[in-house]
Amino acid sequence: MDASFRTMENISVCEHPIALHNLSILRDKNTPSELFRNASRRLAEVLFFSATDNLPVIKTEIETPLTKTHTTIIDPNAKVIIAPILRAALLFSEIASNLLPDATVQHIGLYRCKQTLNPVWYYNKLPDKFKDIENTYVYILDPMLATGGSAIEAISLYVEKGIPQERIRFISLLSAPVGIEKVHTNYPNVKVITAWVDEYLNDHGYIVPGLGDAGDRIFNTLY
Ligand code: PRP
Ligand code: URA
Repeated sequence: MDASFRTMENISVCEHPIALHNLSILRDKNTPSELFRNASRRLAEVLFFSATDNLPVIKTEIETPLTKTHTTIIDPNAKVIIAPILRAALLFSEIASNLLPDATVQHIGLYRCKQTLNPVWYYNKLPDKFKDIENTYVYILDPMLATGGSAIEAISLYVEKGIPQERIRFISLLSAPVGIEKVHTNYPNVKVITAWVDEYLNDHGYIVPGLGDAGDRIFNTLY
């Protein structure tokens, strides 16, 4: 899996053929919602595999039907948090929860104001205090990293509650250079895992060439 990712300082860009193929489906303006959702799921799965390569593992011994053997499991002390930014990341969180069924899912309700492009809060399911900070691993999910405003708000929630940046990862299907720069200016040690970094943002804050409005295409709300 690692060979399919180009990793620079705290950013991994995917080069796996399955990811690139599905990103092309997402970009196509003629892709209907149902196919858009399925391609998003496939791409999210590839990205989430790579993003979770920092999870701690331990050696253990188990009995197969034939014999005892040494094997490796995710450290049961690890507290994994999946944090989807609503609403577009809901699909993403379904994939992540399937891969890590014991993870806690903390929804973050944010939307981007169409006029100012600033994030607006409407919900957050974080606890007041984290119990086991040294064993906590956070994966923030959002299909689009555009201006970076939503990402910064979500990351700050965890940093302010004491989670080290090194154990917070931000996963997006598609990113703009300015968004990545904003994340790393504010939080240089938060790793960004993305399928691709596009060229620029247009005057309305959309990523170009991009894929349009991810939430609207996923939920078929293009009115
Ligand atoms: C989109 C996207 C991100 C945000 C990215 O959400 O899913 O959350 O924009 O933009 P930014 O980097 O400039 O903050 P949107 O506000 O459209 O909400 P939705 O998911 O409910 O459609
Ligand atoms: N949000 C989206 O859904 N698409 C973009 O291009 C930028 C922000």
